Amino acid sequence: MAQQEDVFKKIVAHCKEYGFVFPSSEIYDGLGAVYDYGQNGVELKNNIKRYWWDAMVKLNENIVGIDSAIFMHPTIWKASGHVDAFNDPLIDNKDSKKRYRADVLIEEQIAKYDDKIAKEVAKAAKKFGDSFDKEKFLATSVHCQEHQAKRDALHARYAKAMNDNNLEELRQIIIDEEIVCPISGTKNWTDVRQFNLMFSTEMGSTADGSMKIFLRPETAQGIFVNFLNVQKTGRMKIPFGIAQIGKAFRNEIVARQFIFRMREFEQMEMQFFVRPGEELKWFEHWKKVRLNWHKALGMGDENYRYHDHDKLAHYANAATDIEFRMPFGFKEVEGIHSRTNFDLSQHQKYSGKKIQYFDPELNENYVPYVIETSIGVDRMFLSILCGAYTEEVVGDNDTRVVLKLPAVLAPVKAAIMPLVKKDGLPEKAREIIDSLKFDFNVQYDEKDSIGKRYRRQDAIGTPFCITVDHQTLEDGTVTIRERDTMEQERVAASELRNIINAKTSFTELFKKLM
Ligand code: GAP
Repeated sequence: MAQQEDVFKKIVAHCKEYGFVFPSSEIYDGLGAVYDYGQNGVELKNNIKRYWWDAMVKLNENIVGIDSAIFMHPTIWKASGHVDAFNDPLIDNKDSKKRYRADVLIEEQIAKYDDKIAKEVAKAAKKFGDSFDKEKFLATSVHCQEHQAKRDALHARYAKAMNDNNLEELRQIIIDEEIVCPISGTKNWTDVRQFNLMFSTEMGSTADGSMKIFLRPETAQGIFVNFLNVQKTGRMKIPFGIAQIGKAFRNEIVARQFIFRMREFEQMEMQFFVRPGEELKWFEHWKKVRLNWHKALGMGDENYRYHDHDKLAHYANAATDIEFRMPFGFKEVEGIHSRTNFDLSQHQKYSGKKIQYFDPELNENYVPYVIETSIGVDRMFLSILCGAYTEEVVGDNDTRVVLKLPAVLAPVKAAIMPLVKKDGLPEKAREIIDSLKFDFNVQYDEKDSIGKRYRRQDAIGTPFCITVDHQTLEDGTVTIRERDTMEQERVAASELRNIINAKTSFTELFKKLM
């Protein structure tokens, strides 16, 4: 575990050193849980967004996109339930004065029981070797059964307290489980209170009277309030979807783990409108489609899993997360929610406008049901970086850090390097760049030895390094080195476009989704 934490620290440092992610306002000592994307980060982020957008909007003829404003009428958040129910239960330790999410403290305690069981299993597996039968061991080990029973009882008590919104019970669980503050080490806890996560600001001058408005905590509401606009102007027939990518804001109490939990972040959300009664069929459909989208990137199928929700949000009748194996455990990257007709019905009620669909096949009007797929761009970015970060021993005495990014997502597709800075090689390299730059993000690099230049490109995940040498001037060939295998091949410069395209174009990836 400590080793994994070290890896995570290295990834965070790597992101800064190689221009992927910087702390926001760094020269003023930063701003909690807010980050800026650097020159390589923004390319990776844009590629992730393109992968999502095109997979939704280009590959599905019944899904269209919109871009709604961040500022919206404040009644929207009353109707959606966010003013009253978008809360986290917080608790303070009186000695350290540190603030925690009560639910997170309890979930960490549940994870401790899971760890204890995993340790028993690992110990026994080592002892029994090949003859080890995990299922049998779990069914017979007294220690494992004790841990499992305590875990299950705690889990059931916690789920009930959360569902009942019972803050006193949450505090009592923390006391009964003897959970201590990691800073002060004491059990001196305050009561548990609800804390609303929405940021607010004022719109209009105070002389004219101003209005309190919220920074949207999800992009989804911008889709719901535009349902009729899109359905009518696009002549959309149910089932159909509306997709959107945009910023969202949450005043997170416990903001940590780098860009995993931020106060300003970006979401990619798609609301799929269906007939009432058909929502669970579509929920299963989108669960599969979205997992397939993740797996197609080739980061290892074993690194993904579903996690069904125990506590459903106020608007949902089914929900699951797609989790990715981060260095700090399996964590949610995407949520798939069956949101019923809650949002559209609420907006109908609060706005006084009829929000219904006339279904010509059924010859009836209804408020459509909604399946939502919601993924954080930043979390997706983090999962990709964690999966790609590799430290490798090469040769006898050398190591390299290489980002084994899916080639389509890599910020730079190829680096063009003249072997030396003279003899007309830089000019030749520039000529090659000019022939490639309309199709790919390519980089010119002439500084330091070729070996050092390779390492620099490995560190940002560039799939190809192309070296221009004296032979290039004679016969028009170059050496092309592949990032993962480090193999080099001599090819005609005129072939480069095809070679790079074969590995980095979105087309092959999209075909895997069909
Ligand atoms: N519209 C539904 C919705 O917003 P959510 O589960 O609260 O659902 C969806 O958020 C996704 O947004 C999450 O799976 C995660 O990827 C991302 N996300 C949520 N809060 C975040 C935060 N504070 N920082 C970064 N990403 C976040």
